[in-house]
Amino acid sequence: MSNAFIEMIKNRRTIYNLGDALPVSEEHVTKLIKEAVKHSPSSFNSQTSRVVILFGAEHKKLWNITKETLRAIVPEQAFAATEQKIDSFAAGAGSILFFEDMAVVKGLQEQFPLYADNFPIWSEQASGIAQFAVWTALAQENVGASLQHYNPLIDTQVQKEWGTPDNWVLRAQMVFGSINAPAGDKDFMDDEIRFKIFK
Ligand SMILES: Cc1cc2nc3c(=O)[nH]c(=O)nc-3n(C[C@H](O)[C@H](O)[C@H](O)COP(=O)(O)O)c2cc1C
Repeated sequence: MSNAFIEMIKNRRTIYNLGDALPVSEEHVTKLIKEAVKHSPSSFNSQTSRVVILFGAEHKKLWNITKETLRAIVPEQAFAATEQKIDSFAAGAGSILFFEDMAVVKGLQEQFPLYADNFPIWSEQASGIAQFAVWTALAQENVGASLQHYNPLIDTQVQKEWGTPDNWVLRAQMVFGSINAPAGDKDFMDDEIRFKIFK
């Protein structure tokens, strides 16, 4: 089967061995991220996703914040492995912080009480869709990325450092950079278990 979109989503993988030599400009990466997020769907077209893009020294600052936060809670004998992992993220070219604007979610809950319970779920789904769109778009430009979740541990520090509004809740951190080593093989579960087709 040949389909351009399927090829693109197959090309998106988790890349852990990242470098800071981006194959495209920071401006191009910024534009891609903006376009991917902008054109991702959201419930009621509520556009709840918010993004902070960090390059270079600002990106390193994020991973330093994360490292120091973890240093305070990870047992000393286990910290070397943690530090190595965090340093591997810092070695990338940048990070994308994905937030959801909870003020918008709350507004929707008030406006549409019938769906009140669903709006937080749809917000999470919208965030996931936006993350996937960005990740896939970056992969298409040979920019590698991995998805990390040090929220809520780093939330306060992130808010302090980059002045994000109180109602922006951090949902994920995507590290990106040049691809120093490709992703390994990936196992797939049996289609027979996963899909049911009736006709
Ligand atoms: C919702 C979600 C959360 C994830 N969280 C993490 C994470 O915190 N750290 C990490 O290294 N990878 C994380 N991943 C990456 C997955 O482990 C990875 O996508 C999966 O193993 C498939 O590999 P692939 O991305 O190369 O296709 C996450 C992926 C998804 C979709």
